[in-house]
Amino acid sequence: MSDLTPDEAFLTIYADLAREGPGAAADVGWALSVAATPAQARICDAGCGSGADTVTLAKERPLAQIEAVDKITQFVEAARRRTAPFGARVQVREGDMADLSGPYDLIWCAGAIYFLGVSEGLRLWRKALAPSGAVAFSEPCLLPRPSQAALAFWAAEYPQITDVAGIRARVAAAGYRVLGEQMQVGDAWEAFYVPMGKRIAKLRPEASGALSEALDKAEAEIARWKAAPSEIAYALMVVAPE
Ligand SMILES: C[S@@+](CC[C@H](N)C(=O)[O-])C[C@H]1O[C@@H](n2cnc3c(N)ncnc32)[C@H](O)[C@@H]1O
Repeated sequence: MSDLTPDEAFLTIYADLAREGPGAAADVGWALSVAATPAQARICDAGCGSGADTVTLAKERPLAQIEAVDKITQFVEAARRRTAPFGARVQVREGDMADLSGPYDLIWCAGAIYFLGVSEGLRLWRKALAPSGAVAFSEPCLLPRPSQAALAFWAAEYPQITDVAGIRARVAAAGYRVLGEQMQVGDAWEAFYVPMGKRIAKLRPEASGALSEALDKAEAEIARWKAAPSEIAYALMVVAPE
C-alpha cells in the first residue's frame, strides 16, 4: 500500500481496531459509580472514536440517553454500527467536542481531552454540565521515577505530559475538584496495543511510504510501553466543578 497521505496512513492503521487508546470496560463502571451518574442520565462520550466505551456506557446505564461525538468520519461510522442495537437512545454525531451544549450528567472522555488541554477542556465543558454533573477523563500520566528513556520518549510524544500531581493541578486550575482517580495500567493498555500489534503485522508486508512510517511509529510506541509498562499510565480522573 503506497501513495497514502499521513492522515490516510493513520486511518488505515486504525481501521477495524476495537478502540483507539488504552481503556477497559471495568473502568467505565467504576467512573459511573464514583460520579454517582443516575440511571436515567444524559451522558456524552466526547472523542468517542469507534465507540468502545459508548457501548459500555449504554450497557451500564440501560435507561440513559447517550450522545457520542467524534470529529473523524471513519470513527463516527464505526461507532454508529456498533451502537445501532441500542436504538435511538444512543446517538453518534460527527462534530467538535469543544462545542458541547448538554446538559449532561456525565461527560466521559477517554484519551481525548489532551486534544483540547485538560484545563481548557474542563473550562469549556462546565456550561454543558447539569447541576451535580461530572466529567470523567483519562490522560497520559508518568508514574513515579520514570527512567530517562521513558521520560524522553513520552515527552517527545506528548510535551504536556506530567505525573498525577500535574494532572490534579490542571483540574484545580479549571475550578474543578477530584471525586476519584485511578491509574489505568496493564489490561487497559493491552486492550489497545495487542490488536494494534496484530494490525501492524497484517499491514507490514504491503506497506511503503507514509504507511510504512506510521507503522514504524506505532511499533516504536508499543515497544517503549513493553520495555517499561510501570513507567506510563493513563490517569482516569472523575472530577466535578467546585
Ligand atoms: C485516542 S482516540 C480515543 C478514542 C476513544 N475514546 C477510545 O478510547 O477508544 C481520541 C479521539 O478523539 C477524537 N478527537 C480529537 N479531537 C476532537 C475534537 N475536537 N472533537 C471531537 N473528537 C475529537 C479523535 O478523532 C479520536 O477518535
